[in-house]
Amino acid sequence: MSNIGNYEERLKNFDWSLSEKELDYKAGNVINIGWYCTDRICQMGKGSKMALLWEGQGGVEKKFTYNDIRLASNTIGTFLRNLGVKNEDRVCLFMDKVPELYLGVLGILKIGAIAQPLFSAFGEESLLVRMENAESTAIITQRKHIAKVRKIVDKMPFLKHIIVVDYDGKHPLREREVAFSLEEATPVENFEFFPTKAESPSLLHYTSGTTGQPKGVKHVHYSLISQYLTAKWILDIQENDIYWCTADPGWVTGTSYGIIGPFSLGVTQCVLDSGFGAEAWYKFVEKNKVTVWYSAPTAIRSLMKAGEEIIKKFNLSSLRHLASVGEPLNAEAVVWSEKVFGKQFHDNYWQTETGSIMISNYPGMKIKPGSMGRPFPGITGTILNPDTFEPINAEGKIGLIAFKPGWPAMMRTYWNNEETYKNKFKNGWYLPGDRATIDRDGYFWFIGRDDDIINTGGHLVSPFEVESALLEHEAVAESAVVSKPDEVNMEVVKAFVTLKPGFTADKDMELTIMNFIRKKLSSLAMPQEIEFVDSLPKTRSGKIMRRILHAKEWGEEIGDISSLEND
Ligand code: WT7
Repeated sequence: MSNIGNYEERLKNFDWSLSEKELDYKAGNVINIGWYCTDRICQMGKGSKMALLWEGQGGVEKKFTYNDIRLASNTIGTFLRNLGVKNEDRVCLFMDKVPELYLGVLGILKIGAIAQPLFSAFGEESLLVRMENAESTAIITQRKHIAKVRKIVDKMPFLKHIIVVDYDGKHPLREREVAFSLEEATPVENFEFFPTKAESPSLLHYTSGTTGQPKGVKHVHYSLISQYLTAKWILDIQENDIYWCTADPGWVTGTSYGIIGPFSLGVTQCVLDSGFGAEAWYKFVEKNKVTVWYSAPTAIRSLMKAGEEIIKKFNLSSLRHLASVGEPLNAEAVVWSEKVFGKQFHDNYWQTETGSIMISNYPGMKIKPGSMGRPFPGITGTILNPDTFEPINAEGKIGLIAFKPGWPAMMRTYWNNEETYKNKFKNGWYLPGDRATIDRDGYFWFIGRDDDIINTGGHLVSPFEVESALLEHEAVAESAVVSKPDEVNMEVVKAFVTLKPGFTADKDMELTIMNFIRKKLSSLAMPQEIEFVDSLPKTRSGKIMRRILHAKEWGEEIGDISSLEND
């Protein structure tokens, strides 16, 4: 029996108070995610249950019970407090998927500070803009990433502490740098967590915008109410499950469903801190007897590419429930997973701003391969006419996805950017910025984004950010960045560039520019190709029309080009 039981039944009389009751939370009371994920589970008598099974590069293992993660988060929280970190200070986490990342988030939450996880593949420029925006007080990082922090440290007067979790004593630490070793620190038993309330800030996740700098999505402790119940009903996490979320906590999936959801449910989860590899992944499932697997379409397509032969080498019979998020999950991938694992991947849809899953295929519900499923009970979702912002009540018509605001995990604002936040609402609806259709059974089918953001392998890339990096190169006069089709990543980044007089467009130039921007961008945002052109299509007012370049790459109709300058 699945946790959700019958979806239709759940829709009737749904109330979020159901989740509040299960968590013993009453309006106005203290609610602290860090406490809920550790102390409460121990109080329920599960202190000796495994919380985290971690495997790093080269097969190193570390294991933590719920009591261990309670103590570790106390210890990290105490360390930060002793440094002077206060509630609502932003503490950036810039690490690979090491245990300190997971436990650090919990420790930060316990002292009422705001956890700001940033993907460890970010280059220094990406790091800087996000930390400048947040005015982060501290950053927790590893030796291997400290060079990037050192390059920008002079530009960050607000940053007081650079905490290194694996300092080996070999090279002297510099000003503001301090070592912290979880293994060597005395575990802190007695700890008073900060009495955060529902609306106290918890996490700050950065997401790419179409124009301008990345936006800091502010979440609050009350988000737990959504994350707990969606993890329970959608991911179907049950008492004896071994859960594996492949996402990195640098992104929202890795916190909402890689930390908060599973730990608040007191389940055992495992983490593999190494990149993708089909063999390695199957081996990990087999070894840990993973039962619930939450992954992403690009990973699934990569597994498909690796073929079925290698699957036969492993015993994957532990798998009970599979889910996927982040980008369109093509119907073939669903059909394939049923064929090879005997289980379908359940696609679901949400985003950094929504904080929790909004639309999903539920255990026990009929899956229509290629569809994202139906709104979670308690979520009112529809599609709107893009001109009037009125709901379209017609089957199969394309419109803007829209949700009635007010679910617990909804972002509360964009950090220092209230205006952009306000622009996400129209006619009383929240618009995530995607287009879809709804069929007669109420299933949502993803069509595409309603902006120029590129979703490559599940990672959002702002064309603006890539273009800005390109423009910093001395040879680049103008640039326009769009997506082009890709078999595995669905779409990848492509740049069009015009050069300044005196520079030659050739392979060498492409390489030079690539090397130049590699230092500024994360590897994910790197263009796969730079095409040199003599001019870029522009509107009469001089705005570059990415739309036209995009349409060409995808072999689509160009549409209305009446405002084109060079037509
Ligand atoms: C954007 C959000 C929280 C999920 C991880 C990414 C796209 C997400 C799907 C899906 C098609 C999807 C949307 C969305 N997206 N899930 N199931 N099918 N597209 O969070 O980085 O904030 O990205 O990813 O465009 O708005 P994110």
